Amino acid sequence: MEENEYIQFVLDSQKNILLLTDGHHLKMANRAMLDFFGHTTFEDFVKAHNCICDMFVQEEGYLSKEINGKLWIQALIHDENTPNLAKIKDLKGRTHIFQIDVNEKEQDGNLYSITFTDITDIEAYKKVLKDKIKKIKEKQQILIQNSKMASMGEMIANIAHQWRQPLNSLSALHTVLMMDYEESGTLTVDQITEFKEESCCYIHQMSNTIDDFRNFFSPNKEKESFVISEAIRESVKFVKDSYRDSKIELIDQTQTHETSITSYRNELMQVIMILLNNSRDAIVCKKVLNPQVIINLTEEENNITITVQDNGGGIDENIIDKVFEPYFTTKFQSDGTGVGLYMSKMIIEDSMGGKLILDNFEDGVLASIVLES
Ligand SMILES: Nc1ncnc2c1ncn2[C@@H]1O[C@H](COP(=O)(O)OP(=O)(O)OP(=O)(O)O)[C@@H](O)[C@H]1O
Ligand SMILES: [Mg+2]
Repeated sequence: MEENEYIQFVLDSQKNILLLTDGHHLKMANRAMLDFFGHTTFEDFVKAHNCICDMFVQEEGYLSKEINGKLWIQALIHDENTPNLAKIKDLKGRTHIFQIDVNEKEQDGNLYSITFTDITDIEAYKKVLKDKIKKIKEKQQILIQNSKMASMGEMIANIAHQWRQPLNSLSALHTVLMMDYEESGTLTVDQITEFKEESCCYIHQMSNTIDDFRNFFSPNKEKESFVISEAIRESVKFVKDSYRDSKIELIDQTQTHETSITSYRNELMQVIMILLNNSRDAIVCKKVLNPQVIINLTEEENNITITVQDNGGGIDENIIDKVFEPYFTTKFQSDGTGVGLYMSKMIIEDSMGGKLILDNFEDGVLASIVLES
């Protein structure tokens, strides 16, 4: 066998398209290339085409015959931004995607061996996977939003609760003012000023409640920097009335911390509320004596840990592995849907890159949110 025949034999035994060129003219190609374009001999191919690059499909993001005034081989060797993927149609007109690798023979500088690896299937699979991930993300977003809606009823009750006191006070102020007026047929500047100042204070309080509520229901698109203890204080605001009604002591030990984080504020608030609601439900269900829930915050090296600890009797060891599954609940249908912890885990671990862990601890549950600082 002649040397060229050996080389041809090696080239032909490869599944990828392989060719040798001086940059302008094809010197050799393997069987895979001839089969791909439907030619029987190398000579046939060279007669029909000057260059394999004539068959590149022109498309943004893919290699073309010329890029920025350079021939494709030169562009591939010298410009690292040149796309190394090319689209080429086979003899049946089907488009394939190839990854291209060029090797230059050092001394001559005008001999190149080029490999075309068919990655059509991999690219198609990547696209399917990308679409699937996108769909899952969309579904998760809908779930998060739905769960917020589900807790809306509870929140509206909270607002009503929080409005009652300033509303009563406003009404009392108004009555006093009217009585003063009816008594003397006139009002002094002092009386009017006093009414104005006090009523403004109550109106402000009511308006704040509405703002808290509105902020919470607008989904966070962007991460923002916020003080964690302030977000916790906001979350506590939303549940404090139901805690008071159930006579549960809620101790927030985070308020001395000024640590901030860049993350999704509303989502973190939502998780804290979910945990606080779960603790309250457990305590109410078990009719615990001296019910207590403690929120804490600790910092070490790169981690911030927020804990919610209750004395509600804990979770049965038989089911503790299941509590993060969607729709797993031990509550009556009307009281629980079983998405709270599932969603919380998604928010903390998928969106925020942290960890959410639930453990039985002492006479209740210790929920820990671990976030990177
Ligand atoms: N602090 C806790 N103490 C005891 N059991 C808990 C606690 N937190 C969660 N659980 C258990 O985990 C289950 C799942 O909680 P999850 O928050 O996911 O759903 P849920 O509270 O039942 O319903 P919802 O979707 O309304 O939150 C609860 O039904 C309960 O059995
Ligand atoms: Mg829950």
